[in-house]
Amino acid sequence: MINVTKTYLPNIEKYKEYVDKIYDSSWITNNGPLVQLLEKRLATYLGVKNILLVSNGTVALEIAYRTLDIKGYAITTPFSFVATTSSLITNGIKPIFVDIDPQTLNINVNKIEESITLNTNAIVPVHVFGNPCDVEQISRIADKYKLKVIYDAAHAFNIKYKDESILNYGDISTLSFHATKLFHTIEGGALIINDDNLFQKAKFLINFGIETPESIPHLGTNAKMNEFEAAMGLCILDDMEEINLARKAMVTLYKNELQGLLEFQKQNKYSTQNYSYFPIKFKNEEELKNVQKALNKNNIFPRRYFYPSLDTLNYIEPKQYMKVSRDISTQILCLPLYPGLEIEVQKRIINIIKETIQ
Ligand SMILES: Cc1ncc(COP(=O)(O)O)c(C=O)c1O
Repeated sequence: MINVTKTYLPNIEKYKEYVDKIYDSSWITNNGPLVQLLEKRLATYLGVKNILLVSNGTVALEIAYRTLDIKGYAITTPFSFVATTSSLITNGIKPIFVDIDPQTLNINVNKIEESITLNTNAIVPVHVFGNPCDVEQISRIADKYKLKVIYDAAHAFNIKYKDESILNYGDISTLSFHATKLFHTIEGGALIINDDNLFQKAKFLINFGIETPESIPHLGTNAKMNEFEAAMGLCILDDMEEINLARKAMVTLYKNELQGLLEFQKQNKYSTQNYSYFPIKFKNEEELKNVQKALNKNNIFPRRYFYPSLDTLNYIEPKQYMKVSRDISTQILCLPLYPGLEIEVQKRIINIIKETIQ
């Protein structure tokens, strides 16, 4: 069975060496040495000042809102994974959707200002499939209306925008290191926070709000990453170059073969790509379903990602209707893409698509 992705597992001997160290020290969680080492190595690798590892990408978003004390309404995109929106709601923040650009698939920055009210406190954009938003325009709007910006950068691992990490934009950027992601720690995530005081506050928040053994001044939670997860990250970080090369070759093949037949996401011209997803856009849902059915028959399972559009969630209040996002969510399919996917399988996928839509 070929799925949209397959979890990358590093060399087991290397992982075992880290596990031996964990057993020797018996230090398995609570800001252990491997978590500290991974934070240090990731800060250098990604080109960021302050990075805080946490237990997953959803909790990273929640800690970001609490660190910045976000209340009221937050402007966000309806075309994302459900956690972008659900994390707002579970923290008492109302999501106000702004529709997306049908080509970049990111929030349409030209529509943000008209949705801002006195209740708006934040903007939560997503770099969809690792494609950077219009970060400069978003910064201008945020400055003008004094709004906080939290980028859900779950897909934007190691993306550079104008030669600098995209993660340095906004007040906070969050990452997901879930097993299905380009870089993973089994479960995990991170916050990138430029401001040192806010960074310190977030550190307290992920550890129950405890500042000292006798002082608990913050309403915190438990969002810590453990040592076994950090060990996985340390192993995979060594393999990133190889992983990137493999993914780039696969994306190039898909693009060369499917060019002209289907539409691709329009890439930000000032940024690098990390090849974490390969979304294709069909003319309509019928064409998508035909291709999906044909691939499924061959035991190949691409994913409708993101579907459904988040403005259709039954728990959204007030009700909203995002036309572009609803349409696009019925047209996008992410094709299988992971190191180890054989070229013959990729060619079979390409042929099935060609045969079905021609
Ligand atoms: C855009 C986006 N935001 C947030 C998340 C949540 O991350 P996690 O699964 O690590 O909680 C994901 C994960 O799949 C995601 O794709």
